[in-house]
Amino acid sequence: LMALGIGGIIGTGIYTLTGVGAGLAGPGVIISFAICGLVCACAALAYTEMATMIPTAGSAYTYTYSAIGEVAGWVVGWALILEYSLACSSVAVGWSAHLVGWLEQGMGLHLPAFLLNAPHAGGLVNLPAVGVALAVMGLLLLGTRESATVNIILVLVKIVALGAFIFLGLPAIQAGNYDPFAPFGFIGQQMGGEKVGIMAAAAIVFFAFFGFDAVSTSAEETKNPARDLTIGILGSMGVSTLIYMLVAAVAVGVAPFQEIANSAEPLPHILRSIGYPLMAGLVGMAAIVALPSVILVMMYGQSR
Ligand code: ALA
Repeated sequence: LMALGIGGIIGTGIYTLTGVGAGLAGPGVIISFAICGLVCACAALAYTEMATMIPTAGSAYTYTYSAIGEVAGWVVGWALILEYSLACSSVAVGWSAHLVGWLEQGMGLHLPAFLLNAPHAGGLVNLPAVGVALAVMGLLLLGTRESATVNIILVLVKIVALGAFIFLGLPAIQAGNYDPFAPFGFIGQQMGGEKVGIMAAAAIVFFAFFGFDAVSTSAEETKNPARDLTIGILGSMGVSTLIYMLVAAVAVGVAPFQEIANSAEPLPHILRSIGYPLMAGLVGMAAIVALPSVILVMMYGQSR
């Protein structure tokens, strides 16, 4: 269950939003991640209480239906469906961008633009995004056990990649990059029509925490829901928050935050800047290999 949680939580968020968050909060983005972790921990505790009392599939929908009634349950049910659909699609689109970047830079392969963009972005269809969603669906159709095994492998790839980033980046940290720590303040301020500051960054990087609730949808398939769900939800939240804070601390410690803010792929960018081009490529590739686990867990949660 912890692998299910980590599989759903760690995804495009940490790979792309670390840069966006650093641009909004400066080195204080580390605190933004901590705040999100704390807020999610409260929700996670509520989830574990409810999942223990009502260990059936349906998660927040079932809890709301049982506790408040049909109308509130209906609203929450649709909100959940929207959450999972939105997360699945945005991660699929993010994955497609990573793949296309890798194909173009690494292999010199250029695919026609109309097959890489949805109509609103001037194309016909985002084929890689549709493809990865269908592939994940196929895997889920094979069964929960098969999906869980693949998920565990993908989670290991993610953890090793982020672990390597932290390990290689730590010695290159320059204390001067942490000063000023919160250049735009805590509550934040308006700058160029945009809200900046630690809380503004927290609102953005919150996306990186979506997915922890998917664990609770597996209540019916666990042996001892009370114990297993508690460990699964809180454990995956704790591990992910720790990894996020370490990645963010290394990212803003190695390079000035303005530099990562402007990078579309901040983690490989940082590894390249400290002389590890091969590892930068591998970390980028790990994202391509492992990001589908988020789609896997979200789609699993949605069907429950
Ligand atoms: N938390 C998930 C991610 O960052 C949605 O990709």
